[in-house]
Amino acid sequence: MAQWPFITLDESSNSPFYQQIYEALRLSILSGGIAPRTQVPPTRVLAGELGVSRTTVVNAYDQLLAEGYLEGKTGAGTYVVSEMPDVTFQLEATVSADGKERAKRRERALSRRGQWIASSSVKSLRMQADNTCLAFQNGVPAVDEFPFRVWWKLASRRWRNPPRELLGYGDPAGYRPLREAIAEHLRSARAVHCDADQVIIVAGTQQAFDLIARLLLEPGDRVWVEDPCYPGARNALLSAGSKVISVPVDEEGFDLGQALQLSKKARLVYVTPSHQFPLGITMTLSRRLALLEWAKRSGSFVIEDDYNSEFRYAGRPLASLQGLDHDARVIYIGTFSKTIFPSMRLGCLVVPKDLIEVFVAARALIDRHSPSLDQAILADFINEGHFMRHLRRMRSLYVERQEVLVQAASRDLDGLLEVSPARAGMHLVAWLPQGVSDRNASTKAARYGVEAAPLSVYAATPRTRGALVLGYAAVNAKEIRAGVRKLAQALSS
Ligand SMILES: Cc1ncc(COP(=O)(O)O)c(C=O)c1O
Repeated sequence: MAQWPFITLDESSNSPFYQQIYEALRLSILSGGIAPRTQVPPTRVLAGELGVSRTTVVNAYDQLLAEGYLEGKTGAGTYVVSEMPDVTFQLEATVSADGKERAKRRERALSRRGQWIASSSVKSLRMQADNTCLAFQNGVPAVDEFPFRVWWKLASRRWRNPPRELLGYGDPAGYRPLREAIAEHLRSARAVHCDADQVIIVAGTQQAFDLIARLLLEPGDRVWVEDPCYPGARNALLSAGSKVISVPVDEEGFDLGQALQLSKKARLVYVTPSHQFPLGITMTLSRRLALLEWAKRSGSFVIEDDYNSEFRYAGRPLASLQGLDHDARVIYIGTFSKTIFPSMRLGCLVVPKDLIEVFVAARALIDRHSPSLDQAILADFINEGHFMRHLRRMRSLYVERQEVLVQAASRDLDGLLEVSPARAGMHLVAWLPQGVSDRNASTKAARYGVEAAPLSVYAATPRTRGALVLGYAAVNAKEIRAGVRKLAQALSS
């Protein structure tokens, strides 16, 4: 099917891709650019052409179907409707002419925080709402390998006769037995210095960022973040009105010297010391100690995002940065998104003792607490040994999957991508030859049905060499090999 040239996506726009696709199609239908009864491309085809996920196109089509611009004939495709009443046409034409002015007025009506949120690229998070699992989706664990039967048994035991304490309002800090189980796990597995009082259950890392930004940042405060950086962290800090300063990481991780050259002061610093996201670097001990010393001297806080330290395959397990901190400067964040699955929306904050009360109060103000029954089931899952068993299984599965990816890449991607094994994590950074744009490579890969995020989307400053971030945890060996073959076709096309 021919390309649909009138749809061009603007990555710098504040409106998400599905909205841009919807708007382009709607305007073309209204202006007669697409004739009545024309068949629109299948969602998968248009997604491939535009280099976006299929869900993005499905969302755009759904809106057009709901508003009566398109009609679906089951099994026979989706068409522009044959007749549009004149009145609708006129009404819509005026609205579209006014669209820009209205958007401007709307933006002026937003609070300052609303404007910061509108200007941060929150769409990068919305894109991840696509749950069709493609090789090499990154950040997603092997959800189909989760022990659902075990979970179901634990859940049905809890649901059969839930006690009143799990049905009424719970403690905003979280369900006590879960906080105790997490504290014990973090002490032994991550050498985190904490007791259960310091553990606050949150709805994933993202909520932890939000709480930290609300409680510790004034608009205009300087915050150092790693460059490249996890967009969820960067955007949460930006949306608090802080001045985010991107500090390039080198082979030793976050570099305090570079940070101080870029800005003498910072109120907060965000780091992923165990496994830098996305480069996978482990921050060296001397850099860790220097950062803690600086935090102590300056009275600033360090956010340690320990998002996937459970998946280390070689070398000694690394202690957390928090475990080295003697001055209560580190706020530690853990998540179950990688070890259980992302939609669970459970994670934890470990805060210094003097911040417990204010963090709990803020959590209560936002949404009171996470669902108590889910927390209770998770506590049972940990306390009865299933969590550790699942982690062990996933570690050996991910090692195998990584090996399959490295071997397939060395066979099929020679000269196109440089892929080396990593000691930890759920993704590899695959380097492109000098001068090859990773965004173009990623768009080509999408056309072949392969998801390969370009490294540059995570970077604030242009990088000298492009790379693709390839997640290998979520798909099986066969899909990995097929994905590598498609990637080879895409990159040599
Ligand atoms: C660096 C980093 N931190 C945290 C997370 C997890 O976020 P959440 O706990 O909100 O699901 C991810 C997920 O991809 C990540 O890459």
